Amino acid sequence: MLAEQAQSWPETNRRVLVVDDDRYFAESLSTLLKLEGYDIGIAHSALRARQIIEAFEAQVAILDFRLGSTVGVDLIRPLTERRPGLVCILLTAYEDVDTVVRALRCGAYDYIRKPVREEELFATLDRCFEKRRLVAAKEAAEEALREAKKMEAVAQIAGGVAHHFNNTLAAIHAGVELLLDDRLADSDRAAYAGNLLKAVMRAANINQNLLGFARRQALRPTEFDLNEFLTQLTIDLKAELGGSITVTLAVAAGLGSARLDRDQLGTAIRHLASNARDAMLQGGRLTIEADQAELAKDNPALADDMPPGRYVAIAVSDTGAGIPPDIKDRVFQPFFTSRGRAEAAGLGLSMVYGFVKQSGGDVSIESAVGKGTIVRLLLPQRLDD
Ligand SMILES: Nc1ncnc2c1ncn2[C@@H]1O[C@H](COP(=O)(O)OP(=O)(O)OP(=O)(O)O)[C@@H](O)[C@H]1O
Ligand SMILES: [Mg+2]
Repeated sequence: MLAEQAQSWPETNRRVLVVDDDRYFAESLSTLLKLEGYDIGIAHSALRARQIIEAFEAQVAILDFRLGSTVGVDLIRPLTERRPGLVCILLTAYEDVDTVVRALRCGAYDYIRKPVREEELFATLDRCFEKRRLVAAKEAAEEALREAKKMEAVAQIAGGVAHHFNNTLAAIHAGVELLLDDRLADSDRAAYAGNLLKAVMRAANINQNLLGFARRQALRPTEFDLNEFLTQLTIDLKAELGGSITVTLAVAAGLGSARLDRDQLGTAIRHLASNARDAMLQGGRLTIEADQAELAKDNPALADDMPPGRYVAIAVSDTGAGIPPDIKDRVFQPFFTSRGRAEAAGLGLSMVYGFVKQSGGDVSIESAVGKGTIVRLLLPQRLDD
């Protein structure tokens, strides 16, 4: 990263590509610029400009408005595609509004009138290089910010792992010491061993969720009936969530089978249900909806890395407290939790995110404070091994 920054900012050599089919004009312009200390490349055609732009590493290109059968504006896009960040200026003898507007619309930074006046030329070039410097400085600052955010996220994960590892070690340490104590009554031994086992199970659970987030859980897709699966899960959730929460399942007609990791899908929905329960301490309604659809290439529901095809959509919604806007961006982060209690690791949504992504799907959240939250999972209907 440092090497890249040093290359792009600050710029020492000012490299300008002159593209003009009028050889005499191109030569005289180049001579003038060389005398001012610029490194100059010359192309007498659009084709030649495209060929040499990458190797010459120009920062600025001066393009003649008329270039044989093409016009200079049409060259801006192919040149900037080959060399992102290239600043283009148009040379024009026709200073009519249409020409200038068209040039600027096509991405030209500025234009210079022919015949060229030296002061205007140098002033325009100075502005071009200043713009490049500012853009490079902004990019460097943004990169530094991205890096800092990444480090912060890594620190949060490392801190979370250390915290829970420590808790588990402390529980095991205390438990083993007690078990080794001769004075311990035999009747208490089983209870202490049970607590020890609980601490180990809890640590294993945290580990499973972390592996899920890291997409390191092996997915074991099997074919199963979605309706049956969700019906059974709903029955279990009704029993687990208690009477103050109404659980409703709404399954679209004709919802067939799916080929996914059934157990992990169950764990993910349970995480969502447990979040819903925590958001509805005074009671409320938990709704699970499921549907399937054929999503075509341009469907906005498809994230960039998702191919078109058949998908299952599962939405889990609650009528609870909602997610405050200031924490909405962080809820998928491992170990992010707004709950004050020790059992909340802040790994539920992280597992959901990792599982859905690893399955080739996507997850989104819609929430309104005081009204409730909807978490939507979109999963490919048939996952290959
Ligand atoms: N349905 C919801 N309603 C309101 N807030 C929610 C909901 N789901 C998640 N959140 C917020 O997102 C945070 C992160 O959720 P996540 O499930 O990852 O962790 P957690 O529930 O705090 O702990 P864990 O799931 O590990 O027990 C929660 O602490 C809560 O602030
Ligand atoms: Mg949770």
